[in-house]
This record gives sequence, C-alpha cells and structure tokens, in this order.
Amino acid sequence: MKSLICILLLLETCMSAVQQQVDGGLRENEIIQQLGSEDRRQNPPQADTVRAETSSDSQQNCNLCFPDIHAALRELTATVTEQKANIRALQTRLRDAEQAAEQQTVLLEELNKKNDEMSNLTRRQVEELRKENRDRQIVFSAGLMQSTSGNVGPFTTDISLTYRNVFTNIGNAYNPITGIFTAPVKGAYMFRISVYGTASQATPSTVSIIKNGEHAVIAHAQQAANVVNSSNGVVLLLEVGDVVFVRLLANRRITDNSQSNHNTFSGYLLFPLREQ
Ligand SMILES: *[C@@H]1O[C@H](CO)[C@@H](O)[C@H](O)[C@H]1NC(C)=O
Ligand SMILES: *[C@@H]1O[C@H](CO)[C@@H](O)[C@H](O)[C@H]1NC(C)=O
Repeated sequence: MKSLICILLLLETCMSAVQQQVDGGLRENEIIQQLGSEDRRQNPPQADTVRAETSSDSQQNCNLCFPDIHAALRELTATVTEQKANIRALQTRLRDAEQAAEQQTVLLEELNKKNDEMSNLTRRQVEELRKENRDRQIVFSAGLMQSTSGNVGPFTTDISLTYRNVFTNIGNAYNPITGIFTAPVKGAYMFRISVYGTASQATPSTVSIIKNGEHAVIAHAQQAANVVNSSNGVVLLLEVGDVVFVRLLANRRITDNSQSNHNTFSGYLLFPLREQ
C-alpha cells in the first residue's frame, strides 16, 4: 500500500514535469526574449529595441521557413538562368533587327537616289520638251502695206519686198524691217505668197520666193484688163540661219492697200529635224 502511494506520487511528479516542459516549449520565445534582455542588461546596449525585435522576428521567420530555403533558392536559380537565356535571345533578335534596319536604310538611300535620278531625268526631259515646243512655235504672216496704197514697181532690177503689215510673228523669225525670214531651227517649213496687180499686158505681176539668194517658186499673173492675182506655196528644208524672202521681179508691178492685203507672205515651221 505504501509503495503504491509512492508510485502514484512519482507518476504525478513526472506528469507535472512534462506539463511544465510543454508550457515551457510554448513560451520558448519569451524565454529567448528574457535571455536577450538579460544580455542587454549585462552588456551595454548596442542596438535599439526595435532592431532587436526585428532581428528576433526574422530569426523566427527563418526558423519557420528553413526547410523551404533550398527549394526556393533552386527555383530562383532556375528562374535567373531562364531569364539569362531570354535576354540572350532578345539580344540576338535586337541585333538582327538592327541589321535589318541598317539594310533597310541602305535600300531606302538607294531608292531615294534612284528617285532623285528619275525626277532629274523627268525634269530634264520636260525642260527639253518645253524648249523643243518653244522652238517649234514659229509662224508669221504679213501683208505688203502698213499705211500706204498703190503700186510697187516696175523697177529695172529685181527688188526684195518688205511685208510690213504683220498679222502674226510668233518666234520673231520674220523681220518686218528687212522682209527676211531666218530659220531658228533646222526643219521643214511651209511658205506661201500671194500676188495681186492692176492688169497690164506689158507689165505682169510676178513675185518669187527666194531661199539663200536662190529662186524657189514664182507667183505670176498677166492679162490685159481688170486685175490680176496669183499665189504659190512651197515646203523648204532649212538649216539654222537659212534665209527666205520675196522678190518682185524686174519690170513687174504689184498693187495693194493696207485694208485689202492682196499681197501676203506667210510661213511656219511644220516640224523640226534633228541634227545628224
Ligand atoms: C539631281 O539634280 C540636282 C539639282 O540639279 C542635283 O543636285 C543632284 O545631284 C541630282 N541628283 C542626281 C542623283 O543626279
Ligand atoms: C483673180 O484672178 C481671176 C482671173 O485670173 C479672177 O477671176 C478673180 O476674180 C481674181 N480675184 C481677185 C480677188 O481679184
């Protein structure tokens, strides 16, 4: 009986010790804190309380997550490796893009140059066409008398006629002071004359188109009574500077007035001919 009581007592002591240990385990942090404050009391304080508590907190966290740190590190390393690979891939793509952009720039420059050349060519051609067109615009037409009326001739020699009553003179190739047309460009030119006079069997009305001093075509009219008239035309191939004018032949007579313009001299460029 006595021994049974002893055993029971022993058992109770053990239980209470276990209980204390469990309680103590739960309050471990408090114990650590107490130990810490005792440390501070023994040693002069080197850090403030907040920092001590923070460090104590992180220590506590680390204690709690300690088993996952290696896994987390491994995961982190894998992520970093992966990002490095990504960066390398991006760098490669960037380099490629830069090279492509460089090539595009070179191409663009070439295209711009070609475009420049084309516009220059077009501009030159337009200028040439414009100039050619300007050169083409050659036409004149004039009547014999500007303010007078009556007969011209007869004279003992041929004389050059000056058609003063200018209707048209685009290109100013015809000179109404001298009566001479000078070819500004090589080409095919059309000329026309008309002649008119008071009739006289002895004195016909005859004029001639002259190219560089050489007779080309004649307009001639002759009868005894009333009036006479005739006309003629010719296409001449002229070089630059060739001259064309009209002559009244010797012993011939023409008649006119500034209103009627019976006697006319006209000419125009049909088309230019290229220098060979
Ligand atoms: C085009 O003409 C301009 C001006 O005349 C000149 O400065 C330029 O060099 C020319 N470009 C080419 C490609 O010929
Ligand atoms: C031109 O002459 C012809 C005869 O040769 C005559 O019939 C005609 O009426 C004349 N014309 C003019 C405008 O005088």
